[in-house]
Amino acid sequence: MSAPRRNIELKALDPDPARSLAVCRELGAEDRGVLRQRDTYFWTRGGRLKLREEEPGGAVLIQYDRPDAALARESRYRLTQVEDPDDLRASLDAALGTLVVVEKERHLLVWEGVRIHLDEVTGLGSFIELEGVASPESDLGPEREKVAHLREALGIGEVLTDSYSDRLLGADALIAAAREVMDRAYAPYSRYRVGAALRAEDGSIHAGANVENSAYPQGQCAEASAIGVLIASGRARILEVAVIADADELCVPCGGCRQRLREFMPLDGIVHLCSASGERRDVTLETLLPLSFGPEYLPA
Ligand code: THU
Repeated sequence: MSAPRRNIELKALDPDPARSLAVCRELGAEDRGVLRQRDTYFWTRGGRLKLREEEPGGAVLIQYDRPDAALARESRYRLTQVEDPDDLRASLDAALGTLVVVEKERHLLVWEGVRIHLDEVTGLGSFIELEGVASPESDLGPEREKVAHLREALGIGEVLTDSYSDRLLGADALIAAAREVMDRAYAPYSRYRVGAALRAEDGSIHAGANVENSAYPQGQCAEASAIGVLIASGRARILEVAVIADADELCVPCGGCRQRLREFMPLDGIVHLCSASGERRDVTLETLLPLSFGPEYLPA
């Protein structure tokens, strides 16, 4: 197995791939041609695990862990070359289960060691990715600078923090995040474990679980924990919510949490009410909290 490697990377929607390609050529980026990639993502307890099959090229198993942060971020990953991808895909699918398959055509260019990906992702559209691969001794400063230079030259504005797999999974990804964090709830008194996941405006996901206390009123609901995570990440708008409890019935937010969500979310935003047994009901926040009070009632 290889040692963890580090990247400075950034992803954005690409409204004009032809223009991006022209800019890359003007900058003198080396054209490495077009690759077809199929990434199969497997269920994991933490981080991400995918099998990448590439044409031309071969297959590689990639394990990585990436913090969601709005700016160019550091990502650590491990690569293992794979001789027989069909066999490995079948055994990982049997052992862990397949989460999602992402297929894309990637035009790869390299400028001063920074990989530029002009991606056409099946079902999602056009994207541009920059990856500054760092040498082991780098403090990541030069990679950050080069990525920033390319970002400017390519006119990249808003940066995306969710992965292609998150985008393809949509609500499923949100529910999976709520379910995963539910398993880490601290609920020794009620033994009713709850997970909540919030999707912010930029697509990023923020999750939290209930945290109880032997002094019962000091306990905190999962929604409140997740809102804390959202705010700590620098975001404050919620588009979509998933709540799930370790029970057969659908989990519904308590009255207090409906009001907490109301602070950050539009009334037509969707709340996915989920049960551990796989049932689901989608409702708007307004359904949960009609005739509600919110920030707009207060004087400016
Ligand atoms: N709980 C939540 O986390 N969210 C809700 O909206 C409903 C209730 C938690 C609080 C407490 O830890 C446990 O469920 C039992 O009330």
